[in-house]
Amino acid sequence: MRNFDETNITSAVLERVGHASSPRTRQISAALVRHLHDFVREIEPTQAEWAAAIEFLTRTGHMCSQTRQEFILLSDALGVSMLVDAINHRLPGKATETTVLGPFYVEAVPEHALGDDISGGMAGEPLLVEGTVSRIDGTPIAGAVVDCWHTDGNGFYDVQGRAGLERLAGRARFRTEARGNFWFRSIVPASYPIPDDGPVGDMLKAQGRHPFRPAHVHFMIGHPGCETLVTHIFLAGNQYLDSDVVFGVKDSLIRALDRQEAGTTARGNRVDTAMAALRYDFVLADVPDARPQQTG
Ligand code: BEZ
Ligand code: FE
Repeated sequence: MRNFDETNITSAVLERVGHASSPRTRQISAALVRHLHDFVREIEPTQAEWAAAIEFLTRTGHMCSQTRQEFILLSDALGVSMLVDAINHRLPGKATETTVLGPFYVEAVPEHALGDDISGGMAGEPLLVEGTVSRIDGTPIAGAVVDCWHTDGNGFYDVQGRAGLERLAGRARFRTEARGNFWFRSIVPASYPIPDDGPVGDMLKAQGRHPFRPAHVHFMIGHPGCETLVTHIFLAGNQYLDSDVVFGVKDSLIRALDRQEAGTTARGNRVDTAMAALRYDFVLADVPDARPQQTG
């Protein structure tokens, strides 16, 4: 075939990609071609605009390194990460809702004893965190692995190197006790801008958007037989709750800080001084018994 124009090029490309041997590759390739051609037909880019788009993607690739993944940031800022998350977590109603992982997760963090102060010298207001992990039927999960991480009081993660810290801080791993409970002390995190000194930042500026995320504490909670939960708890009252740059906020994940006086908490833990307290009870979904068989 030859002599392609606006009227026949889409069907010609669809015909060509229809020969892929895997049905999934055929499906994805056809959808990509249809949506991409429709996009170009809708916006009718000039040659200069198309060159700028290619240049934008090239800069996005060049920005990627061992410590920076600009393509994931692009996916986050365009709401695609949350869409993929939603499609992959159609969980039963009572399970704690999920949200994006983000770039500041560190895999191999040391396990801490319950009650430890994990602030590691970060600046900020003292915070007590108390939680439980249970199954949908309410059974407490003992031995669940709870990873958490958050910024300092100025909105910087330890790994960003701007918090003036030489070691991991504001992050730790805990293991729940028999009642499914865990607790630790740290500091109250703050809102912060996602890394905006690259093409994603340029895109946000061009779209008239701010780069901020509302203050939150990240959690990743795992236990055999349960779906690993990746989520955050957002602090109520934050000014960016309704305009999170990565569209990650859900009502069920927002909690107001309580005030805990010195002494024993209602959950039986002891603090020596008064501090803010964040409390959340997490519910993990069971891994589905029978997963559909992969074909193609
Ligand atoms: C975060 O919450 O750490 C985050 C999530 C998505 C993009 C940037 C940061
Ligand atoms: Fe974060």
